[in-house]
Amino acid sequence: MAVELEKILRPVDAPLPPFPPKFMKVASGEDMVVRQVSREEIPDLLPHVEPLIHVERDYYDIVAVRVYAELLGYYRHRVQDEYVLIAQINGELAAIVNGRSLNKDVGVSYHTLALRRGLRVGAHAFAAKMEYHMDILGHKEVLIVAESPIGFRRWMIEYHLEKRFNVAHELGGVPSWALTKPLFDAARDTLVVGRRPVPEALLKKAQAAILPPSNPPKPPADLLGATRSMNDPTASALLLSRQRLAKLGEPEGKV
Ligand SMILES: CC(C)(COP(=O)(O)OP(=O)(O)OC[C@H]1O[C@@H](n2cnc3c(N)ncnc32)[C@H](O)[C@@H]1OP(=O)(O)O)[C@@H](O)C(=O)NCCC(=O)NCCS
Repeated sequence: MAVELEKILRPVDAPLPPFPPKFMKVASGEDMVVRQVSREEIPDLLPHVEPLIHVERDYYDIVAVRVYAELLGYYRHRVQDEYVLIAQINGELAAIVNGRSLNKDVGVSYHTLALRRGLRVGAHAFAAKMEYHMDILGHKEVLIVAESPIGFRRWMIEYHLEKRFNVAHELGGVPSWALTKPLFDAARDTLVVGRRPVPEALLKKAQAAILPPSNPPKPPADLLGATRSMNDPTASALLLSRQRLAKLGEPEGKV
């Protein structure tokens, strides 16, 4: 009975072609690899998304909580035709991007989450997912929304996205914006960077382990300020979460 019901609950994914990994040099001079992750790798991402749920700055909280749900939805087969790409620098998780294929012509962009700031890793990872939609999946347009002013600047303004305000985006039901093929082609030379194939050693290092980000966005040091938004006046939830992170060996998790 449980097996039968699971067959009904679980959507049947369309076979999507894989994203061919690529690499690029970021502003720090380090090489960054962008690659697709399998369902089995999702549990390795979740512990690095969870702490960002408590970072209000730049809307990391709302984006992280949604990304967490989307990753879990993918892992637990509760979303159809989703894909997840990650960016890694020296193996460390630098960015997560995801989305899904709505049909053969339209893609839906879910989120972009940068775990290392100031290097445009989020912008590069977003460009890689648009490349996936346009060049690999053959979509004619991608529906996009922004939850933060930085996101608005990066996507709506830098790509000159078109309004599709008659279409409610899956993400929060808000009005959509669209990246069309001509807009993507116009941005290709300036915003879409990276080379293929990824040198074998570089790719192997990235695939070997998803290492914790060494300097991810952090909640304020002031426990009172940090916990006010969590409805956690004793700071116990925050302290527990940091202790858990400390066990994972993350520097910012130390209490
Ligand atoms: C939107 C996002 C993906 C962009 O990532 P990115 O391209 O790597 O850019 P950063 O966030 O590092 O930097 C954004 C700006 O803040 C500045 N900045 C640099 N270091 C910073 C830091 N430590 N803290 C805050 N801002 C910083 C950058 O200089 C940059 O300015 P610029 O736009 O003039 O270049 C990222 O900001 C993010 O994950 N935000 C939270 C989630 C979110 O909003 N996602 C998008 C949903 S629509």
